[in-house]
Amino acid sequence: MTELTGLRALVTGGASGIGLATAHALATRGAAVAVLDLDPGGLREPLLGLKADVGDDASVRAAVEEAATRLGGIDILVNNAGIGAVGTVADNPDEQWHRVLDLNVLGMVRTTRAALPHLRRSAHASVVNTCSIAATAGLPQRALYSASKGAVLALTLAMAADHVSEGIRVNCVNPGTADTPWVARLLSATDDAEAERAALGARQPMGRLVTADEVAAAIVYLAGPAAASVTGTALAVDGGMQGLRVRPAAQA
Ligand SMILES: NC(=O)c1ccc[n+]([C@@H]2O[C@H](COP(=O)([O-])OP(=O)(O)OC[C@H]3O[C@@H](n4cnc5c(N)ncnc54)[C@H](O)[C@@H]3O)[C@@H](O)[C@H]2O)c1
Repeated sequence: MTELTGLRALVTGGASGIGLATAHALATRGAAVAVLDLDPGGLREPLLGLKADVGDDASVRAAVEEAATRLGGIDILVNNAGIGAVGTVADNPDEQWHRVLDLNVLGMVRTTRAALPHLRRSAHASVVNTCSIAATAGLPQRALYSASKGAVLALTLAMAADHVSEGIRVNCVNPGTADTPWVARLLSATDDAEAERAALGARQPMGRLVTADEVAAAIVYLAGPAAASVTGTALAVDGGMQGLRVRPAAQA
């Protein structure tokens, strides 16, 4: 028996990066885990891969129902699927604003809406949303992405208030820049990937990127019974980026 034995979890965007690390971490601790992703082809047992697009309500509903049927219910929902966007408020066309807000915000609405009937039947119901440091700090060139994650933070609090009386907890994690395939793609699009990686690491007081496993550990904590009194919180996993104001080493 481990801490999540008997619990059933659904992780969106769980085929890569933070979501994949979370799916493995939940399974290692005893949960039965289904992964909803655009591309679940690479997933292996014990993870149950389900193909769906969080931008499409019908596909979300079908995948959530299949997860609930095959797992025997849903206790934990991790709303993690998301996409990025680079630019100032002047740079992204309306279509991109609609697309990113649709996937990053309404995606969570669709999966949670579909999972709610199952969560209501659980004695340990919990939702964890993957938010971002971009919700709480002003980052350059991230106007659209930050707006989407600011909405996720507000949505997390509102959902926590709406469902506390039903015994459903809702929290989010706020990762700093994390070492995932997403960031690897961003770095490979720059002229000097190593210099960019060093700059992103230096922006975080610990001087390095966060790992996907570190974010997964925070999600697992919020998802599980150990956090039974925790709802409506945002847990930063950001190497101190949000909370600390350290001086450069030379001036310390
Ligand atoms: N990597 C970072 O630095 C960082 C920092 C803060 C927050 N985040 C957040 O963490 C989450 C995961 O990021 P990651 O870095 O692991 O990314 P990633 O690109 O490595 O993985 C994202 C996964 O989501 C899936 N996905 C994308 N669009 C989807 C859709 N429409 N429907 C279903 N699945 C979809 C992809 O197929 C992929 O498997 C995102 O919400 C992101 O905003 C990432």
